[in-house]
Amino acid sequence: MTELDRTGDRSPVPADWTYAPAPESRDIVRLRERYGLFVGGEWLEPSETYETISPASEEPLAIVAQATAEDVDRAVGAAREAFANGWSSLPGSERAKYLFRIARILQERAREFAVLESLNGGKPIKESRDVDLPLAAAHFFYYAGWADKLEYAFPNRRPKPVGVAGQIIPWNFPLLMLAWKIAPALACGNTVVLKPAETTPLTALLFCDVLRQAELPAGVVNIVTGDGRTGAALVEHEGVDKIAFTGSTEVGKAIQRQLAGSGKKLTLELGGKAANIVFDDCALDQAVEGIVNGIYFNQGHVCCAGSRLFVQESICEPVVDKLKRRLETLRVGDPLDKNTDVGAINSAMQLEKIRELVDSGREEGAEIYQPPCRLPEKGYWFAPTVFTNVAQSYRIAQEEIFGPVLSVLTFRTPEEAVEKANNTPYGLSAGVWTEKGSRILWMAQQLRAGVVWANTYNRFDPTSPFGGYKESGFGREGGLHGLEPYLRFDE
Ligand code: NAI
Ligand code: MG
Repeated sequence: MTELDRTGDRSPVPADWTYAPAPESRDIVRLRERYGLFVGGEWLEPSETYETISPASEEPLAIVAQATAEDVDRAVGAAREAFANGWSSLPGSERAKYLFRIARILQERAREFAVLESLNGGKPIKESRDVDLPLAAAHFFYYAGWADKLEYAFPNRRPKPVGVAGQIIPWNFPLLMLAWKIAPALACGNTVVLKPAETTPLTALLFCDVLRQAELPAGVVNIVTGDGRTGAALVEHEGVDKIAFTGSTEVGKAIQRQLAGSGKKLTLELGGKAANIVFDDCALDQAVEGIVNGIYFNQGHVCCAGSRLFVQESICEPVVDKLKRRLETLRVGDPLDKNTDVGAINSAMQLEKIRELVDSGREEGAEIYQPPCRLPEKGYWFAPTVFTNVAQSYRIAQEEIFGPVLSVLTFRTPEEAVEKANNTPYGLSAGVWTEKGSRILWMAQQLRAGVVWANTYNRFDPTSPFGGYKESGFGREGGLHGLEPYLRFDE
């Protein structure tokens, strides 16, 4: 006899087992109506402004600054002054104290930051809460630990800070990319001018509050918001000693051309078209979870997204079947709902790009599958998508889509998998799913990618260097390697 029969409970059984809404409260975030430029520890009034919105509802959130070349000049000046007036000569153990403080404050205020990140960028709260925020804090903790150990990290090389770092970041992981940039720069004794992406400035602006709380000396970190024009002014500025850029390959190439011969140090973290390679001896259900995480995490707005799935021919059918079934369970919608798996597309511009590439996939002859799902009326949305019957020459197999769109291709032998996986101008990451340890090691040696994940995907840790080959850029962020771009060595 079942529990139900015994109790005689006749309460109605739901016709369909859906989740009740579970929205995270927005009240924890107190937005100002307008934000200026954070320069020399003060808020400066901008001469030009624009409105930043929520991509899930198109609702305006705040007015922010569109920094001009003059504003950038003031920020670089403040950073230079802070560098010369004490920060660069502070003992490493003192710099570490500030970084530890920042890390702890981020942990304390994690919920506030997570809600704001989801509000301004469209990513599910589940991800900003469980991935972006813990990792951002972890980066500050990790690099705090290096600040007084640089001599040991680079023995006999006398490491010194480079000077003023100009840092330009994208919109897919706004606070996390800020942490990746600012933490190693400060640990090494540099000062910073950081420009957030135009669609997601708000967590960087809230971070200025953290800097004040941590009593970081004025001018060590300066934040100037604005679009590509602001970024270009920062790249061009003569007072900047190092540029760190994460974003599109197109802009990265332009920056490299611009800086050639200038003597400025440069690191570029650009696009990707990663191969996620599934062998017939893998744990299938785990692999399917890894495929889903690889491409639908953060709406596919991930430079290392596993956007090309290579499945060994013998198991293609069961993998695609399982994948389609799994897609039906993904919940697309309100980023602030704790049950949401796939949130809003970051901007109208990005949605347009995804649509255009998906149309090209249809036209070139690939077969499209999208699970039935109701998309909200307002805001920018795109259903999780799988393309099968994809040829390597199709645009959807070549170009970075940066959306929730997967292209499925097949292979027969490990050699063929390697050849196809490496057949791309990019080389940021790859995934390998197999039971054989020896095959994992062989694949990792053959794949021209900065990160190779084995039987997992999209795993990050501050101790592990991250960066690309070929058109995915150069330089490493994270780990001991991530210190080097922020140091000079007098031999
Ligand atoms: P983008 O490269 O234009 O923007 C990234 C950052 O660079 C933003 O802060 C932007 O304001 C700044 N920027 C733009 N033009 C600049 C210039 N001339 N000089 C200096 N800074 C400049 O990327 P966008 O237009 O937002 O996205 C286009 C495509 O780029 C995406 O569809 C995606 O494929 C790729 N992308 C890759 C990212 C990655 O993590 N590797 C991140 C963002 C975009
Ligand atoms: Mg652009």
